[in-house]
Amino acid sequence: MKTVFSGVQPTGNLTIGNYLGAFKNWRDLQDENRCIFCVVDLHSLTVRNNPEDLKNNSKNIIMLYMAAGIDPEKSIIYLQSNVSAHANLSWVLSCYTYIGELSRMTQFKEKSENSDNINNGLFSYPVLMAADILLYGTDFVPVGEDQKQHVELCREIAIRFNNIYGKTFTVPEILIQSKLATRIKGLQNPTKKMSKSSKDKNDTIFLLDTEKDIISKIKKAVTDSDTRIYFDKETKPGISNLLTMYATITNKSIEESEKDFSDKTYGQFKKDLIEVVLNEIIPLQNKFNELKNSIDYVNNIIENNAKKAIEIANKNLENVYKKVGLL
Ligand code: TRP
Repeated sequence: MKTVFSGVQPTGNLTIGNYLGAFKNWRDLQDENRCIFCVVDLHSLTVRNNPEDLKNNSKNIIMLYMAAGIDPEKSIIYLQSNVSAHANLSWVLSCYTYIGELSRMTQFKEKSENSDNINNGLFSYPVLMAADILLYGTDFVPVGEDQKQHVELCREIAIRFNNIYGKTFTVPEILIQSKLATRIKGLQNPTKKMSKSSKDKNDTIFLLDTEKDIISKIKKAVTDSDTRIYFDKETKPGISNLLTMYATITNKSIEESEKDFSDKTYGQFKKDLIEVVLNEIIPLQNKFNELKNSIDYVNNIIENNAKKAIEIANKNLENVYKKVGLL
């Protein structure tokens, strides 16, 4: 069995883009792999959070993992801060990572632009991410395009360490998540990625939006003055984005999706899309709410899964300590 590792930061509310781009794929990976899905709460400290919000968001993500069909008996789902080995290994790896490498990270450059909080955590963020991945002997890391550079750096660090101390780490491979889904754009700004933090509230469908809001947001989604439904990112970004969403949820290709609507109006298309989205999201929300009402059960899962993670992580950390000469 191959080991798959990925993580999500507990900042802000998750969007339908996060779900279609990540959780939906992860669910399908768990049958044939040993899957480990982390809520990377330590990474979230790189920006200022309200502590109560951070706690709630962290637990919500665990419940959303489960609501999305990730089975805590099959996969390990846990909070990063519950496993101290992440921070420990991160320190060791930071001594094998060059300032030059970290300075070249696009995400660091983007996040430090116009920021008055360029802290060391933000800079060494990819080292902690490398520790996350390498602690579990990970073979595959399913992430979006925007994390590719970080996984590549992780590979560099692993190879460097192995070259000095002999084979210690599995060198992970990136698994680019569903090409279609990672391209889900804002409903009002369909040339930009759908974002948790968009200023326009109609731009983003959140996973926990009410049915009424979902309907209204799709109805208001920008289209164009043409009347035909086909995929063309350049001239029809709005319709193309809605088609992508439709195709991802129904597991159809773009061509098949175009055919479904070849003689339909924009109004009919949106009506069908609303139905497909609600059919996917409402059952997930129902499960989420059930879990929310059985918080003891959820806390139990968090504790038991953390134990499983700790066992694997500590073994690997010990091995690394031995190699570098820590007693
Ligand atoms: N940096 C990732 C993101 O923002 C989250 C993350 C942290 C992660 N550690 C990871 C993803 C390890 C995959 C593997 O999306």
